[in-house]
Amino acid sequence: MIEQQTIWDKRFSGGKQYVYDTDWIDSYLGVFKSRGYRDILELGCGDGRCAAAMSKAGFNVLATDISIVAIKKVASAMPDVATECVDMSNHLPYDAGSFDAVVSNLSSHYFSSEKTAEIYADVHRVLKPGGIFLLRVNDDREYQINKLNDTVEELSKNYVLSSNGKRKHYFDTDDLKGCLSCFSNVVLDKGSFRCNGRKKYVLEAVAYKE
Ligand SMILES: C[S@@+](CC[C@H](N)C(=O)[O-])C[C@H]1O[C@@H](n2cnc3c(N)ncnc32)[C@H](O)[C@@H]1O
Repeated sequence: MIEQQTIWDKRFSGGKQYVYDTDWIDSYLGVFKSRGYRDILELGCGDGRCAAAMSKAGFNVLATDISIVAIKKVASAMPDVATECVDMSNHLPYDAGSFDAVVSNLSSHYFSSEKTAEIYADVHRVLKPGGIFLLRVNDDREYQINKLNDTVEELSKNYVLSSNGKRKHYFDTDDLKGCLSCFSNVVLDKGSFRCNGRKKYVLEAVAYKE
């Protein structure tokens, strides 16, 4: 994963930001409050847009990312947000039952189905009973848009190596459901939003731990 860390460090050193509004995470803040949540882990926080929204709403946020450059940026811009450089594809360095919610916005679609299922099982482990895993990943509709100009090699079904060296996984609902099979209740939704000036297609999931 060192190679992936280098790619992401380069991406965040460039000064380019992900530009999108925070409607998605904002729409869940009331749910988090009504369930009495306090402690939230974010995986792959990037430049910290979701972390900032959750922290501003009063939650204790631990924002993590594989990129040390991204983490340093979030740490200096958001003193109320705790930060840590974590590769989610390794064991998450937290005790079982540490968090009320885990959030991953467009950060867990870089792995094979097998590795994704392993990561999600680890997320399940670090959640408290009654906790929620909230995530968005690339939808396979994105693949139709990206595959002509951005696929170097198909590694497995809908999992590709792209021109910039990143691996990208485009999920269909059965694939994502399978990866989340350790959760007792999963609600999936196909969505889209504007990111960096274009419409991006995503699969959204809310997965509940009993
Ligand atoms: C498309 S960006 C999304 C960033 C952020 N969640 C947002 O919504 O703006 C993907 C993020 O996932 C992070 N990432 C990629 N692979 C990762 C890994 N193995 N462990 C942790 N973070 C990872 C990247 O560094 C990057 O910040």
